[in-house]
Amino acid sequence: MARVEIHGYAIVSDDDRIADAMGRMPDVLRNDADWAYFQAGLDRSALSVLGRLGHESNPNPKRRLRVIVSSSSSGLERRDDGWWWNPQALSWQEAMARVLPGGGEVAVPGGRRVFDLFLGIGYDAFHLARAEGVRIPGGVALFSACDQGLGAEAILAGRGLKPGERRILDPAVPVSLTVWTPKGETDA
Ligand SMILES: NC(=O)c1ccc[n+]([C@@H]2O[C@H](COP(=O)([O-])OP(=O)(O)OC[C@H]3O[C@@H](n4cnc5c(N)ncnc54)[C@H](OP(=O)(O)O)[C@@H]3O)[C@@H](O)[C@H]2O)c1
Repeated sequence: MARVEIHGYAIVSDDDRIADAMGRMPDVLRNDADWAYFQAGLDRSALSVLGRLGHESNPNPKRRLRVIVSSSSSGLERRDDGWWWNPQALSWQEAMARVLPGGGEVAVPGGRRVFDLFLGIGYDAFHLARAEGVRIPGGVALFSACDQGLGAEAILAGRGLKPGERRILDPAVPVSLTVWTPKGETDA
């Protein structure tokens, strides 16, 4: 099969939360510099893979190709708004053989269960942005294991990923960015 390269993208708080206790993205995690970085990643990607709730709450004005992860799919179906995939019914490799037969870069913008799913499939890069000094008690964790007391860094390291150089996307907050890759290569 042609090579598919999986890139995760998240912005988290100091306590590794991607959303508030109501499951909504709080203003403290909305940042223009991070958004621009993320959009550039999407522009580079052949496909993005996101959970059904994220799909429903984020319009797709550029009509980018999406795979929507949902238990409502019987395996993999093409609908008007993208491919709907149920990972319990069809493997990632089988899905990609149909959706992206020529291979390419795939962006994974979450949410939590989707980030968990790709920990098992394997990230080629995880672009971890952090709004520093921000905490979201009771919020939705980046990975389920964060709720068992593990930090995002420890979880990524446990999957064989290594951090690139930390850089600042927005000095005002600040928002930092570290790209984790299997070889700890320099930031993409
Ligand atoms: N800070 C960040 O970087 C970031 C990133 C992503 C999301 N968010 C925020 O987080 C919130 C939404 O995230 P979320 O985690 O609640 O929802 P989500 O991942 O967008 O959607 C959850 C839904 O996706 C489907 N799904 C996910 N994993 C699945 C699996 N392994 N198998 C089958 N179906 C699966 C299920 O749909 P069905 O019910 O149809 O089965 C599930 O109900 C939003 O506020 C969003 O803005 C923040």
